[in-house]
Amino acid sequence: MRRDSNASGLKIRMESKDSKRKGSVGSKGTKSIADTDSMSNFDGVARTQYMTQKRLSSTTLSSQAPTDTSEDTDQDHINVVLRVRPLNSNETTRKDQFTCTFAGAGKIEVDNNGSSRQFGYNVVFEPDATQSDLFDHSGVKKLIDMALNGYACTALAFGQTGSGKTHTMTGPPQQFQEGKQVDPEMYGIIQRSLKYLFRQLNQQHGNKIVRASYLEIYNEQVIDLLNPNMRRYLQVRWSKNKGFYVENLFVVECETEDDLNAVLEEGMRNRQTGSHGLNEFSSRSHSMLMLTIDSEMQDPDDENLYITKRGKLTFVDLAGSEKVKDSNSTADTLVESNSINKSLLVLGNCISSLGDQKRRQGHIPYRDSKLTKLLADSLGGNGVTLMICCITPSSHHAPETMNTLRYASRAKKIRTKPVVKMVSTK
Ligand SMILES: Nc1ncnc2c1ncn2[C@@H]1O[C@H](COP(=O)(O)OP(=O)(O)O)[C@@H](O)[C@H]1O
Ligand SMILES: [Mg+2]
Repeated sequence: MRRDSNASGLKIRMESKDSKRKGSVGSKGTKSIADTDSMSNFDGVARTQYMTQKRLSSTTLSSQAPTDTSEDTDQDHINVVLRVRPLNSNETTRKDQFTCTFAGAGKIEVDNNGSSRQFGYNVVFEPDATQSDLFDHSGVKKLIDMALNGYACTALAFGQTGSGKTHTMTGPPQQFQEGKQVDPEMYGIIQRSLKYLFRQLNQQHGNKIVRASYLEIYNEQVIDLLNPNMRRYLQVRWSKNKGFYVENLFVVECETEDDLNAVLEEGMRNRQTGSHGLNEFSSRSHSMLMLTIDSEMQDPDDENLYITKRGKLTFVDLAGSEKVKDSNSTADTLVESNSINKSLLVLGNCISSLGDQKRRQGHIPYRDSKLTKLLADSLGGNGVTLMICCITPSSHHAPETMNTLRYASRAKKIRTKPVVKMVSTK
């Protein structure tokens, strides 16, 4: 495993190794290739399998899409899947009601104190869905395949605290404590994705480089989870070539799946022992594991030139979406909840605007929070996004669950137009 200080480390390495046969792609160094085939497959691939499963139900994108003939046909909707976790022991002891009814075909009906409402998503995972069901049927494999082909892809978990976001993304949160043995069956989407990614990479020819970084956004401050000794907040900057990026973020070059797992474990441990030592720390912060996958290839227009396709794969575990109760609002927690709410609020605003046919042409407020700056590519631009919405079926939390489901329904209306990113490695 190599550690590079930041993106400039990457440039030095490339130049010294292969400079003779590298070329650039156009004057800006980027090239867009609309790949409509992969997008139309994104939802379609596993659709027939979904229908045969008992633990989950799905629908197709087209049956959910609003009629919107003015759009480009190579645009697609963000995929939104829903996971309902089982009632936990607190909830059963309290005799909470199970509020969800599963009607199949990606439909769920939720009862909130006598008034019920139906929602529809690409897939609904019922409480007995396993970790491997999530990986196999959420569409994340297609996301990885697309990242390998040069797209910016993001899997993003959201929902209230305790709804199962971390469980879904990385497995039971306790597993990263020192000395704990983990049952591989409990591995989350991230570990399974890393395995799948390297399996695919090993089957491909050509020079590939995977780099990882891992950060957390807490109180609107960016903390490097791979370089926690440098207790300094990092700046989010913008450049014409890179878009929004985090300055001086630690980047680790990973040659094997074990290298990537080591990155994940280091980041998760640092996340849990965060500076404030609060139990709630992780539920109040957003974490982002970011991978870039560079694939070098011959320029189709000039065999003497080599270009690099740069795919991105980002896994986001968002802070809990619940409103902090007034009784908790001491001065400190108020600052915290405002900051968390700010990021989530701005994310919500961006999602509402992007999901609205008229407003999406206008100003989208990405710049209003660090989270949305860093997600701008995946949400609005040229990326591919999978949103994993997590809820509890408990009647006690039904009002908050309704909010989460409405948020998820708005997200489903977002359309993106993925393009491949090519970088010049001259
Ligand atoms: N689908 C599930 N099956 C079994 N236990 C779960 C499931 N989802 C969450 N849990 C458990 O519930 C608790 C809270 O989940 P967690 O992932 O930490 O929530 P969040 O990250 O949304 O705050 C954890 O102990 C977790 O292992
Ligand atoms: Mg969590």
